[in-house]
Amino acid sequence: MGNEFTWGVATSAYQIEGGRFEDGKVDSIWDTFSDKGQLPESGDVACDHYHRYPDDIALMSQLGVDAYRMSIAWTRVVDNSGRVNPAGLAFYDGIIDALLAAGISPWITIYHWDLPQSLEDAGGWPDRHTIDAFDHYTNIVSNHFGNRVKNWITINEPWVAAMLGYREGVFAPGRTSMADALAAGHHLLLAHGRAVATIRANVPDARVGIALDCRPSRPASANEADVAANRHFDGFRNRWFFDPVFGLGYPQDMLNAYATAGYLPSTRPDWLKDGDLETIAADIDFLGLNYYTSQTIAAGGEEVETATIQPGPNPPAGYTDMGWAITPDGLRQYLGHLNDTYAPPSIIITENGASFADAPGPDGQVRDLRRQRYLESHIEAIDQAIREGVAVDGYFLWSFLDNLEWTSGYAQRFGIVHVDHTSQTRTRKESFDWYRRRISRPR
Ligand code: FCB
Repeated sequence: MGNEFTWGVATSAYQIEGGRFEDGKVDSIWDTFSDKGQLPESGDVACDHYHRYPDDIALMSQLGVDAYRMSIAWTRVVDNSGRVNPAGLAFYDGIIDALLAAGISPWITIYHWDLPQSLEDAGGWPDRHTIDAFDHYTNIVSNHFGNRVKNWITINEPWVAAMLGYREGVFAPGRTSMADALAAGHHLLLAHGRAVATIRANVPDARVGIALDCRPSRPASANEADVAANRHFDGFRNRWFFDPVFGLGYPQDMLNAYATAGYLPSTRPDWLKDGDLETIAADIDFLGLNYYTSQTIAAGGEEVETATIQPGPNPPAGYTDMGWAITPDGLRQYLGHLNDTYAPPSIIITENGASFADAPGPDGQVRDLRRQRYLESHIEAIDQAIREGVAVDGYFLWSFLDNLEWTSGYAQRFGIVHVDHTSQTRTRKESFDWYRRRISRPR
């Protein structure tokens, strides 16, 4: 990690902002999902960052990070008729100006899953028109903020948005069709490609990337069935998104498998148009990688996002409160694999962190040693990957604040700042001070 290495923290709009009814915000699919009772708690107030951002940025400045990865809520800045909402832009102007005044670079995620409900009603991500609406929104925000924001992340975790939202139905909008999910995934990737061009046109000195989630996997044994299951899982979970972003198109083995399963026609899918793969493979300045855990795959469980951890050759160093295996070496290996397979110009870890529910003790201290160990081991794994020749140029810890962990509500705490969601009191955890010291160390 050289001097140019960027250290940051990350959040997303729906998880922290609250302010659901403020200043002309319209509903997103997560507001609707919550209204339907699909979340244990709603994000209507969340961390009340909408009203408390000056204090939150002051805390961030004590932390000493170079950068802050945040997302913009589409539903604040564009109304249901596609008109700009100046009050929504003004809210983000306030945040961006405060960050810059504190010497912190804003890294903006344009889409972190909060699709306007009006667009879902018109077909959502499985409908190609959503891409035009996204491009319109991208044009507005890159035009408006581009004089101050130079680092842009188009889409966060298209796999999650498509598969959990449109196939498994466990995330908003809660639909359950694999055919829809595959179309949604394709349109999210196309929206990314279109956004790269739009941002570059508006902000000539922008650095643009996408944040892909990954679930590195290995077969539970050398048996043919486990090896094949692992290959399929990797195709479903990772290669289906990484390959087209890096110009390799959709993996042929998965196209065949999806055709056999009846998810796609055996000829070309009707959503794949001429020129699409070129658009998706737009040149990016960095790959954003979100890494939490890796998985061992045995035959039989290969196409589900399963919490079932199969016994494997590399036992994890414990589990986080999400039930996710702690596997820092999985990150080191995957970084090497990405480098060998896709040769990205630069990799930024756009998310990494752990949920542990440590609360303030009688003395007010939050002793979250398990989080520190998790972070330390993953940063060490990145360091090792860099020594092995991989260009990793930044690290964003997920997350700055304990926040609304989607369908897990407030119970899952990823923050290095503890948030009491009743009083909204913020308390620095010990990991906050650990991270502060870690990132101030000369390399
Ligand atoms: C990622 C999401 C992020 C957060 C973490 C724990 O999948 O991008 O919003 O929920 O997981």
